[in-house]
Amino acid sequence: MDLKKEAARAAVQFVQHNHRIGLGAGSTMAHMADLLQQKAAEGLAFRVYTSSFSTARLLQQKGFAVQQATHTSAIDLYFDGCDQFDAGLNALKSGGGVHTSEKILAFMAGEFILVGDESKYVQELSTRFPLVVEVLPEALTYVQAQIGRLFAGTTSSLRQAPQKDGAIVTDHGNYLLDVMFTAWPPLEQINPAAKSIPGVVETSLFFGIAQKAVIAGEQGVQVLYK
Ligand code: 5RP
Repeated sequence: MDLKKEAARAAVQFVQHNHRIGLGAGSTMAHMADLLQQKAAEGLAFRVYTSSFSTARLLQQKGFAVQQATHTSAIDLYFDGCDQFDAGLNALKSGGGVHTSEKILAFMAGEFILVGDESKYVQELSTRFPLVVEVLPEALTYVQAQIGRLFAGTTSSLRQAPQKDGAIVTDHGNYLLDVMFTAWPPLEQINPAAKSIPGVVETSLFFGIAQKAVIAGEQGVQVLYK
């Protein structure tokens, strides 16, 4: 059984007529795109936005006219996967390096719904995944030094493009720093501290934003609320 697909199947039931919905990135969102195509074929009308170039292409291939977020300040629902989320529905993201655009849609949404298989759910976030910090290129060295000073004991590295010689450049023309912690400071302190550094665009910690999580396990699908 594909648990990500089962979670997506349950999540898609929250979409209602005329909703403006947003989709993030990753394999769970690819299942959402398939299931939304089915919903549209059944006659449900809705508009789609996405934070991800690859999801946009997928949606276009499925016949959706993807809406631009530029002239929008609110959508109804935003669905996204994550690397891990905790009992407070705080999530670490950025598998795809597009967390800044993801966070914009998540904040715009009336409801931000995390979707995934049960492996994503932990009582407390582990330090297996980095805090990913999107950084303006000219501030890279300064931000790296300041991150080391603000978050003692962390190590940070510039995210490299797989099989290419050089750093990943985001959709916004910036770099990504993967910051590894050995223990998390109080989560509520992380974004205000990181974002106080000039040159930091956004972090991959989605603190206090999600209202709901739809997770699938071998025993079935569960909806968790904040
Ligand atoms: C993108 C993400 C993804 O949602 C995360 O990597 C999960 O992907 P998948 O659905 O393939 O497990 O954070 O930035």
